[in-house]
Amino acid sequence: MNKTTHKIYIGTMVTIIIIVTIYLVYTGYSYYNTALEERFYHPQHDWFKPSGAYGHGLGIIGTLMILIGVSLYIARKRYNFMAKYLRLKYLLEFHIFLCTLGPIMVLFHTAFKFGGIVSVAFWSMVAVVLSGVIGRFIYIQIPRTIEGRELSLQEVKGMKTDLSTVLREDYNLDDSTILLFISFTQVEKDRQEKVSPGVLKKALKRSNVPVDQRRSVLKLLKNERTLGKRISRLQTMQKLFKYWHVAHLPFALIMLVIVIIHIAVTLAFGYKWIF
Ligand code: HEM
Ligand code: HEM
Repeated sequence: MNKTTHKIYIGTMVTIIIIVTIYLVYTGYSYYNTALEERFYHPQHDWFKPSGAYGHGLGIIGTLMILIGVSLYIARKRYNFMAKYLRLKYLLEFHIFLCTLGPIMVLFHTAFKFGGIVSVAFWSMVAVVLSGVIGRFIYIQIPRTIEGRELSLQEVKGMKTDLSTVLREDYNLDDSTILLFISFTQVEKDRQEKVSPGVLKKALKRSNVPVDQRRSVLKLLKNERTLGKRISRLQTMQKLFKYWHVAHLPFALIMLVIVIIHIAVTLAFGYKWIF
């Protein structure tokens, strides 16, 4: 997938989520806006109620989407299912798509009526989705290979350039300038003094570096600084991400267990959707 197709991929998923949500709100607005005790008299009660053909259908399809979104991701991540064809990164995006659209459908399945033990499943679902958003934020802070595998600290450190050698050999800079430049690339806790880009430019001028090369030195330094920041953040993020799974996964499990009970209870009451 190149950049353009990736944009189309994401764009399509976001558009689908928006259109479906607008449709669900638009079509059921008058029903969901009716007070709970008056809904029974609404002309379309049998259609929109959680056990109605439409409401029940939303619950089933939404739950299936969540199940597929979770099992596909776990199958690929933990058991290398179709590892050749499914890139983890894209699959995570697909996980987020199905596990956002699914919960939206389930929300409309409940018809905004949160009663009984199954409401625990509903709120667990909300917790999983919210924790997912936070997890996604942490996830993108961790450098990865193009396939989506986490890079180890060692690998990231290996990406760092040997700055002093490059600056000395390629640009003939003296030691004090090199030290100044290195301290620009260092993270706060390691560096001696704060160096601004303006100071770097002056030093480059002073060292008689040709104008066209100044830009590439600045670019190199900025890249190194970004990498340096990432390395220092990496360990924190890796730890945080470990803790994060402690929120995302158990809520998903609670949800699963209660939804199974919920389905069993509804089946026992004879609700079989259209079958
Ligand atoms: C994450 C998944 C689900 C959640 C959070 C959920 C939640 C709910 C909630 C909050 C209600 C309303 C309870 C009330 O009347 O106070 C409900 C009703 C209902 N749900 Fe679900 N549901 C889910 C999935 C499903 C699935 C997969 C099915 C069917 C296979 C289903 C079938 C029903 C039926 C038949 C009712 C109506 C029960 C009645 O009127 O007594 N739900 N659900
Ligand atoms: C009902 C909705 C959802 C359920 C049931 C669910 C469940 C799961 C499960 C079981 C995993 C695998 C955890 C593991 O490998 O240990 C996972 C991973 C993940 N999910 Fe979700 N999820 C949901 C929604 C979301 C949403 C809405 C987002 C983001 C906005 C999200 C982001 C993530 C991320 C970032 C990972 C971790 C990837 C990794 O560690 O490789 N999830 N989810």
